[in-house]
Amino acid sequence: MALHTAEEIRALNEKFDREPVDALLGWIWETLGQRAAIGTSFQGAGLVLIHLSRRLGFEFPVFTLDTGLWFPETLALHHRLEEFFGCAIESLKPDLTVEQQAQSQGPELWTRDPDLCCTIRKVMPLQGRLMDLDGWLTGLRREQSDTRQHTQRIELYTLDATSGKEILKFNPMAGWSREAIWAHLKEHHIPYNPLHDQGYRSIGCQPCTRKTAAGGGERAGRWTGFNKTECGIHTFMARKG
Ligand code: ADX
Ligand code: SF4
Repeated sequence: MALHTAEEIRALNEKFDREPVDALLGWIWETLGQRAAIGTSFQGAGLVLIHLSRRLGFEFPVFTLDTGLWFPETLALHHRLEEFFGCAIESLKPDLTVEQQAQSQGPELWTRDPDLCCTIRKVMPLQGRLMDLDGWLTGLRREQSDTRQHTQRIELYTLDATSGKEILKFNPMAGWSREAIWAHLKEHHIPYNPLHDQGYRSIGCQPCTRKTAAGGGERAGRWTGFNKTECGIHTFMARKG
């Protein structure tokens, strides 16, 4: 059964583009409840999203795709955030450990085929989790990169061709600036990744994240040296509306 038509998605976007983010979060909670979940890599926008939701009493499940290749600072932040928000943050792990992946694909796959590495370590675990959901909330922002500038607050996708399962993707932070995110984090004393204070603007897996000069593109430090700007979790599904 179709969740919504493309026409309905367009109308919803027009409506919620004119309203504060709380209104969209309220609509998601009323419509989907805990069949919608927040996916976060513990970067600013995702943290603001969790904070706004919980402040309004919307207890969306929260999950993170833990590739096994994170910085120790990111792992420590996971636990600090569980305490701060008072909720569990589910860790989704790939089927293969880093060692098993090295045995089947050769060592340091990220240096040779980062797309395959991201598919194994991020896309496949996400796909599995989305099968059990009707809605996925992300911290995507238009300002982050050229490829994200057309991000809509509400998007409709088919998860995979075989099942035909539909999923609503929500990007409530789409219109927020980096400055607004940081102001909110600071105002509410929300724990954030200490690597941000050491020159890292966008933080992912350790082997694929570099420090960047201030003023560079927000995601310039990701997959340096490769013609790659997306890990694949935002590009693997077919858009319907
Ligand atoms: S990405 O290249 O890693 O996808 P970015 O770090 O800018 O991009 O994150 C954008 C959004 O994608 C996050 O706000 C979050 O919703 C989702 N996301 C990215 N990485 C993860 C992750 N490891 N676990 C869960 N969600 C993630
Ligand atoms: Fe592998 Fe790098 Fe993708 Fe992490 S970001 S899954 S290390 S290619």
